[in-house]
Amino acid sequence: MNRFCIYGAGGHAKDLLAQLIFDFGRDGVLCLVDDFESGRQQAGFDVLDFETACRRHPKANWLIAVGDPSQRLRITRAIESRIGEESAFVSSRAFVAYDFAPAPGVQVLAGCCISAEVTLGRGTIVNLGSTISHESRIGDFVSISPGCTLAGRVRVEDEVFLGTGATIMNGTAERPITVGRKSVVGAGAVVIRDVAAGSTVVGVPARPMGQAKC
Ligand SMILES: CC(C)(COP(=O)(O)OP(=O)(O)OC[C@H]1O[C@@H](n2cnc3c(N)ncnc32)[C@H](O)[C@@H]1OP(=O)(O)O)[C@@H](O)C(=O)NCCC(=O)NCCS
Repeated sequence: MNRFCIYGAGGHAKDLLAQLIFDFGRDGVLCLVDDFESGRQQAGFDVLDFETACRRHPKANWLIAVGDPSQRLRITRAIESRIGEESAFVSSRAFVAYDFAPAPGVQVLAGCCISAEVTLGRGTIVNLGSTISHESRIGDFVSISPGCTLAGRVRVEDEVFLGTGATIMNGTAERPITVGRKSVVGAGAVVIRDVAAGSTVVGVPARPMGQAKC
């Protein structure tokens, strides 16, 4: 039986909750977890602190609903040391190719298309209505916000955040476009060349923040 504790109670938790209820019914959700604002209800579910949730639901599957990649990594480590590996979730309303194998912690929400020869690293979230085309490699703890388009042969390194509606143009087999580790791509940006690790880019075409032109 798929029964989940959701770590997080903010915006992404609301999106995830809706998907879990759609796929598994209200019985599929055990509680939400918020260490700072526990002891309340959200959408009719208890919001508990982490320790209480672990005690009350020892056999739960865990999903982390936190958009910030480094926070998600931190929470993953806490869950790992207390309980074990977190679960993966692929919405019944997503298209995933025949060869797709979700790593632990991966979430693929409704309306997404994951095409052939695509890999998603551990703890990576592909939010509502995003498309990842052929031969793209996405690292660990990457956050892909709603409505992103990653054309084929793209590399996205660990802990990258892609804002809503960002587009990464396709690379070639020899020269894939690479978005460097821990970088941020602003909402609506169109990335046409490599993004340096740790940088923030915005605009069309995407440029380091502060240099964007209309
Ligand atoms: C890129 C981003 C991270 C920058 O955030 P920030 O550091 O707080 O930046 P600010 O809001 O202070 O803006 C700084 C400048 O960048 C510009 N800017 C910010 N985001 C931009 C974007 N996405 N595209 C174009 N320009 C942008 C601002 O207009 C501002 O320009 P100015 O200095 O000429 O006035 C943020 O704007 C963004 O796009 N976040 C994505 C949010 C998102 O999609 N969340 C998904 C939730 S599911």
